Amino acid sequence: MQLLEVEASAPGKVILFGEHAVVYGEPSLSLALQRRTFVSGQPVGEAFTVNGFPLDPNFHSYIERAVKQHWKLGPLRLQTESQIPSGSGIGSSAALSVATNAVLLRLQSPDTVPLSEIAHAAFLTEFDTQGRASPNDTTVATAGGGVLLAPKRLESPDLEFLWQIEREERTWNAHRVKIPELPLVIGVTGSKGKTAEQVAKVRRFVEKSSFARDVVKDIGRITMAGVEALRKNDLRTLGDLMNRNHEHLHTLGVDTPLLETLVQGARKVRGTLGAKLTGAGGGGSMVVLSENPDEVKVALEKLGASAFLAPASRDGVLVKP
Ligand code: MEV
Repeated sequence: MQLLEVEASAPGKVILFGEHAVVYGEPSLSLALQRRTFVSGQPVGEAFTVNGFPLDPNFHSYIERAVKQHWKLGPLRLQTESQIPSGSGIGSSAALSVATNAVLLRLQSPDTVPLSEIAHAAFLTEFDTQGRASPNDTTVATAGGGVLLAPKRLESPDLEFLWQIEREERTWNAHRVKIPELPLVIGVTGSKGKTAEQVAKVRRFVEKSSFARDVVKDIGRITMAGVEALRKNDLRTLGDLMNRNHEHLHTLGVDTPLLETLVQGARKVRGTLGAKLTGAGGGGSMVVLSENPDEVKVALEKLGASAFLAPASRDGVLVKP
């Protein structure tokens, strides 16, 4: 018997290391945030609706793609609500893709749907909607907690292998990483970065420049050094590595004047260990590791950002029933 309603929610994310480089198969390390996107679906009505409006690819591009890819039955009434500002680099589209696919798959399944199936479906939605993507954001939004993507499956007592995702010539291996409580602050610029545009910009640079390819490789090395620093709970080294990762993202051209002002401003606060842009850039957000998170928040707000303390969430996608 088909369920009458399914509700799902998925968290946003903050990338500590490896954005952009992960698209080229380098490792990335991210955390799920406590802010979430909620989606519910009921198989009723004559036509597909989202929040009472007809499903429209111009306004609901991720949902429309997910429906095309993963829904075989009749019309649905979908409702969405989000605590994650869109275009802000903290995973709004991934959370929406994951929660939507979780609803669609569960409505068509007699049993609960395995997390890896949701992660694969949501990655396909992101990839096809954006034109290109790594499975970083959708994996974190599915699994929750700390997630390391790596080109090879890694064996270590601190890592739990989750699943492998392939697309074209690339393979990403997702691992759960134990992450200590980190004093993180996120500064949101309020200017929306378009992930697809930033990914395309970096791609043009990487295709024509061996220098850019070296930068991408070094981001991969920084990410793995970050994993080691976390294992040792060495926050000072972790912060230095975040700073280095930021300089590389600046070189790749995805930094903006406001992001740079926020990063430099945060570094001036006593107790700040590291600061970098996070996500695709071109606007969006930055993240700070600091022994003084409240002061960092105030400093970022004075510089024109909205800022919040960002504890990690252990929960990934949650589906009812
Ligand atoms: C965006 O949150 C992260 C990027 O690396 C793109 C991707 O991984 O798909 C910029």
